[in-house]
Amino acid sequence: MPADNHPPMRSYGRIKSRPIKPRQAGLLETLLPTITIPDGPIDLAALKPNAREVWLEIGFGGGEHMATQAERNPDVLILGAEPFLNGVASAVRHVDERGLTNVRLRMGDARQLLMDLPDACLTRVFILFPDPWPKARHHKRRLIQAETIAELARALKPGGRLRFATDVADYAAWALERLTVAPTFNWTAERPDDWRIPPIDHATTRYETKQLGDCAPAFFDFERA
Ligand SMILES: C[S@@+](CC[C@H](N)C(=O)[O-])C[C@H]1O[C@@H](n2cnc3c(N)ncnc32)[C@H](O)[C@@H]1O
Repeated sequence: MPADNHPPMRSYGRIKSRPIKPRQAGLLETLLPTITIPDGPIDLAALKPNAREVWLEIGFGGGEHMATQAERNPDVLILGAEPFLNGVASAVRHVDERGLTNVRLRMGDARQLLMDLPDACLTRVFILFPDPWPKARHHKRRLIQAETIAELARALKPGGRLRFATDVADYAAWALERLTVAPTFNWTAERPDDWRIPPIDHATTRYETKQLGDCAPAFFDFERA
């Protein structure tokens, strides 16, 4: 069992992975090792000296949002965690095609990566359309749990921001309930459009375009107190 007692990571809805295309397989061998975040305590300055800020995307899927944010913010170091090999293969393709030098990846559980980060080092965290685990008996597998919220609060700087998005109504309520009671996070919305309309700096994700949920996408931005 990992140190913070979180349940083991389970794969949601992916029985079989797709074959990796030869070019992506090549990049997994050549590019990925050069941008991989080593296991253990993370030395951010060693990953990219002089980064203006450090951002983290949890469960980046195919990596299109992460790559777009990295392209728009070249002086920001963007960390990504994703356990799914096909997602990592897609992300390294984006990094290669767009010539990004500010993305670092860990293929694995973002909860471990969070624990490996120093205190108050992150300025932004993105959790976009996480696996919904709709059945009540699977809710404990959801990423948003008290332990993860505490780790997010520890790793974010005061004034840092967390963005959570989902198109599953029950998960939206679940996340709001847990994040608004956490004294460390303040929901920044002032009117319904603040969560109903995608934020101006949002980049559409692959999962979002599939519209598999049961409600329109909701975007919740929180500020670390
Ligand atoms: C529904 S997909 C959404 C992917 C992407 N954010 C998007 O919107 O297209 C959820 C992603 O979270 C990843 N994931 C699940 N548990 C995770 C964990 N503990 N750490 C990191 N990623 C995780 C899954 O592998 C999957 O790629």
